[in-house]
Amino acid sequence: MGRVRLRAVAVGIFVVLAVAGCGGDQDALHAASSQQSSIVELFWVMFGAGCVGGGLVVALLFVGWLRRERAGLTGRGGDDRAATRLVVILGVAVPIVLLSLLFVWADIFVVRSTAAPVPGSTQLTVRVIAHQWWWEVRYPGTTAVTANEMHLPIDTRVDVIGTSADVIHSLWIPELNGKVELIPGITNRILLDARTAGVYRGQCSEFCGVQHAHMAIAVVAESPARFRAWLANMARPAVPPSTPEQQAGLRVFLSEPCASCHTIAGTSARGEVGPNLTHLATRATLAALTIPNTPAYLRGWIADPQAVKPGALMPSVPLTARQLDELVAYLDHLR
Ligand code: CUA
Repeated sequence: MGRVRLRAVAVGIFVVLAVAGCGGDQDALHAASSQQSSIVELFWVMFGAGCVGGGLVVALLFVGWLRRERAGLTGRGGDDRAATRLVVILGVAVPIVLLSLLFVWADIFVVRSTAAPVPGSTQLTVRVIAHQWWWEVRYPGTTAVTANEMHLPIDTRVDVIGTSADVIHSLWIPELNGKVELIPGITNRILLDARTAGVYRGQCSEFCGVQHAHMAIAVVAESPARFRAWLANMARPAVPPSTPEQQAGLRVFLSEPCASCHTIAGTSARGEVGPNLTHLATRATLAALTIPNTPAYLRGWIADPQAVKPGALMPSVPLTARQLDELVAYLDHLR
């Protein structure tokens, strides 16, 4: 009984691990673009061909085992010529034809549809700079700079040009396309063309340090009109503080080390080390999707970043409880 239960638990763990990459927030099998659709089709055909091929091999092994038993009992051997023909057809000819077809399909059709866009064939360019452990997102031609959240208009071919500020990262938004390597000193490109509005979770998919798993990005695909409104707001300087508490918060921000790492457009804060905070309050999460962006979490993050994201470059700044409140009041109104 105990052994049966142990086996059931083991099977359960295996199934959970096997489907973990194919469900939940990130679902590579749930395509939201024609590029990802071609990857999903290829996956299912390869999977199906693998199942049929594997099943056939197992079935033939079983038949061989059965016939061997019978040959042993009767003392009659099998037909050597028929056996050789079977091996040549099923073991050589059929695999060559099948693998060639799959190779042509994968290499010509899928690789072509998911490849980096030809210059001039896209309608929007977005620049992504990977950092340990967050994503900087820029929209060339505008002053919009954001972090860990990329907005895209749907049904629009977007040329994403990516690089890295430190080590090698890999940008992967499983519902939209394959992966792209972000390498310091080099720019690589990938086509994103969402056909369905929604929020797609992306993840760094190359080990880049202790917080690799906490390096996620939200890709918000929305109607072109909503996207234009969002971009126009992102390009504006920060709203000035409107209450005495917020004014005090801005003073804390500018007088403490915050301003040497972060930019808030419209103020004297022009640091480039950490994320741009000009419109921080519009973002849904903090620390690259590690925690929700609420005043309580923001306060905890500023008070002790290492508790939330050990190894992150954000230092703990010694602030009084009152200064923390003022700072959070200011940052939380940066919409
Ligand atoms: Cu960046 Cu893993």
